[in-house]
Amino acid sequence: MLNFELYNPTNLVFGKGQIEKLPTLVPQGAKILLAYGGGSIFKNGIHEQVINNLKGFEIVEFSGIEPNPHFETLMKAVSIIKEQKIDFILAVGGGSVIDGVKFISAAVNFEGNPIDILQKRLLIKENAVPFGTVLTLPATGSEMNSGAVVTIEATQEKLAFGGSALFPKFSICDPTVIESLPKRQLQNGVVDAYTHVMEQYLTYPHEGYLQDRIAEGILQTLIEIGPKVVENPKDYALASNFMWSCTMALNGLIQKGVPSDWATHMIGHELTALYGIDHARTLSIIAPSLYKVMFETKKAKLAQYGKRIFNLEGTEDEIANEAINKTVEFFHKMGMQTKLSEYTEDYNKTADFIVNRFEERGWKGLGEKQNITLEKVREIVEMSY
Ligand code: NZQ
Ligand code: ZN
Repeated sequence: MLNFELYNPTNLVFGKGQIEKLPTLVPQGAKILLAYGGGSIFKNGIHEQVINNLKGFEIVEFSGIEPNPHFETLMKAVSIIKEQKIDFILAVGGGSVIDGVKFISAAVNFEGNPIDILQKRLLIKENAVPFGTVLTLPATGSEMNSGAVVTIEATQEKLAFGGSALFPKFSICDPTVIESLPKRQLQNGVVDAYTHVMEQYLTYPHEGYLQDRIAEGILQTLIEIGPKVVENPKDYALASNFMWSCTMALNGLIQKGVPSDWATHMIGHELTALYGIDHARTLSIIAPSLYKVMFETKKAKLAQYGKRIFNLEGTEDEIANEAINKTVEFFHKMGMQTKLSEYTEDYNKTADFIVNRFEERGWKGLGEKQNITLEKVREIVEMSY
């Protein structure tokens, strides 16, 4: 097993009605920026619950953080925080709002142009404005990790960043919030979390036996509950296991001491930047092709996955191949389309565009062995058309 440090200071407050703890979690006397998205929290009553639980606190509201949050929007919140001397941020929303707040938190005290946080991928280790979250959409794990993804509208770049100062101080995770989610977002959540596990699991055999078993447990749980929770989000057993699986998929635990890939995400982010395709749906387009193109590298682990998750039998090659088919089947069951041409007609230049972008950024080898070269990226994207 590889050496590791496990640092995760987020106080995860999980369960029905936990929003009542809000006044005890926010620092006493804090002036709060309440940040949210396009208004779903008004329709489902979460805004009202937050406001009712924060009586006595001074609150400034910031609305309109869009899905795949924009740098340009977030910088407006940075100005408000500076002007109004705000000392705590509360993110109420899904991954986009939480990621947006991580950027705001990092940018307020940043010396220099905050765009560098994204374009130079600077690690934020100090001077962040403290923030907490009320999660409304299980998917990204952003509620318990220190990473985020922000889009620069002007350049159509979707860039990841993070750092140890960007863990939420607390996250309130009440599974009943999923009752108001549209089917599409529930499907997205399951597939995003599933792919997070795959990025950290589907590499090559290693000595992290326990990490593998935990990862497989999350995959099996998502396969079992995913299709059901989409049809029945009011079932608390399904909702709570769904939410906890999403958090566990990307709170850092299963990544410790093992190699990880993340190339599906890196390529997928470009599809969102180019075509506005939902994050999870980009993953379901790219992942199957990536597993095929990187078959030799991933074969042994694909076979382990096929045996343990789908009970497949046969030679290593047969099981590994069939495991990819089973994954695509699961994505289809979760309402995903797995080809780029199903989302846009204008896909022919996508591979050129992505390869050029990666080249400009100096990304010459992605994946757990850094052997996903630019030629392989081209092959993966073209196979996804
Ligand atoms: O904006 P509002 O009106 O709130 O509506 C949102 C939004 O339109 C709606 N929604 C959220 N909670 C709801 C709800 N509608 C009804 N009821 C509720 N309870 O759902 C829509 C999508 O929300 P969004 O936050 O964009 O979705 P998600 O949580 O999937 O986040 C996606 C973003 O997270 C990034 C993605 O790249 C993307 O930008 N990721 C962040 C990661 C991280 N920080 O670790 C890792 C992920 O791999 C991912 O890249
Ligand atoms: Zn993701």
